[in-house]
Amino acid sequence: MAFYHDHHYEFDHHNHHYNHHYNQSDEEFHHDLFLKRRHTMHWMQHPWMQLVDAAAYFDRVVANFFASIVAQGHGKVVDRLLPCFDAISTIYRQQLHDTDIRSDWGDGHNRCAYTYRFFALHCHLVYRGLQMALLPNLQLLRETWRNYFSLRVCCIGGGPGSDIVGLTRFIRDNDLFPTWGLECSVFDLHPEWENTWMGISKANPPGEFPVLSYLPGDITRTYPPLSPRGRLTIQSADIITAVKVFSSVVAFMKKDALHGNLLREIFQEMKPGALLFYIDNFYKNDHRAFQAMAYGGGVTEHLFEWHGEMNYPAEVTHSETINRIIQGTGFKPLERCSVSVMLLRKPLTGGYM
Ligand SMILES: C[S@@+](CC[C@H](N)C(=O)[O-])C[C@H]1O[C@@H](n2cnc3c(N)ncnc32)[C@H](O)[C@@H]1O
Repeated sequence: MAFYHDHHYEFDHHNHHYNHHYNQSDEEFHHDLFLKRRHTMHWMQHPWMQLVDAAAYFDRVVANFFASIVAQGHGKVVDRLLPCFDAISTIYRQQLHDTDIRSDWGDGHNRCAYTYRFFALHCHLVYRGLQMALLPNLQLLRETWRNYFSLRVCCIGGGPGSDIVGLTRFIRDNDLFPTWGLECSVFDLHPEWENTWMGISKANPPGEFPVLSYLPGDITRTYPPLSPRGRLTIQSADIITAVKVFSSVVAFMKKDALHGNLLREIFQEMKPGALLFYIDNFYKNDHRAFQAMAYGGGVTEHLFEWHGEMNYPAEVTHSETINRIIQGTGFKPLERCSVSVMLLRKPLTGGYM
């Protein structure tokens, strides 16, 4: 049972004020940070070094997964990825925001194709987004979480576990909480992602990732509301992530606001002090629509916001297995994307009713 630590912690807004400049590049952001912090840290602790190291690690996590598929004699899976790449990319490029056409994540080949193309990049987005949002407040978080028995994380639309892998690495690198104390769950339309997650975790060193439990559920459903288990999971979560899931569901909500009921309920059920971390494609005002829904559920503290293109660090060279798949298919793992990042929090004291 996670303790709810009734200690009021104030985030430092001053040092990392919201960056609304869509075009600020990652490099500019990190250069700024470097200038501010160069006198106080060893170069290996520099956020950019950590980021590059983490990105190389995410690439290895995916490579280990595909190497294990081949080692188990399922090499043909890799040959079947090609048509899935095309289909997934078409939906992401043209249809995601305005139609209800979606990739079928119930299909194992689609899930493998997704893992190859997006997993490492999305881990990286999470890592970098957390870095940008939390760097000035790391000590504060360490102190706040020091008395927690466990740190609970729930990933809405967490799919193959990319949110968790990015977050775990960030927490470990910054010594924020013992990662064996993470209790993680994924609330997702496709429980089949759990098979992919099992494959990824088995292919990587034991104890590398926290245990993940999957809660199947469609967040666009109008009825029934959260199950008792779902409600408990949300109520006890210290961090809720919504990474690249809002873009998958927003078209349904635009068509009929009732499809947002479950998401609204999730925000209402979040406990005071819980963090809500959002990353999604930068598209029109979708992040504002998400924020308005969160606000309606009492998640009214707006701690951080950033919009821009995130690039996988050019310093990272792909693992051997990934290089072989690139040669075989002509498709590389994705290396950049334009996103909005937001960190919101439900206030500890009232005032939002
Ligand atoms: C683009 S993937 C993002 C996965 C992961 N967060 C990441 O960043 O790699 C979208 C995820 O949302 C899930 N999803 C799509 N529609 C959903 C819905 N209606 N309810 C719950 N999850 C949904 C998908 O199954 C998938 O796991």
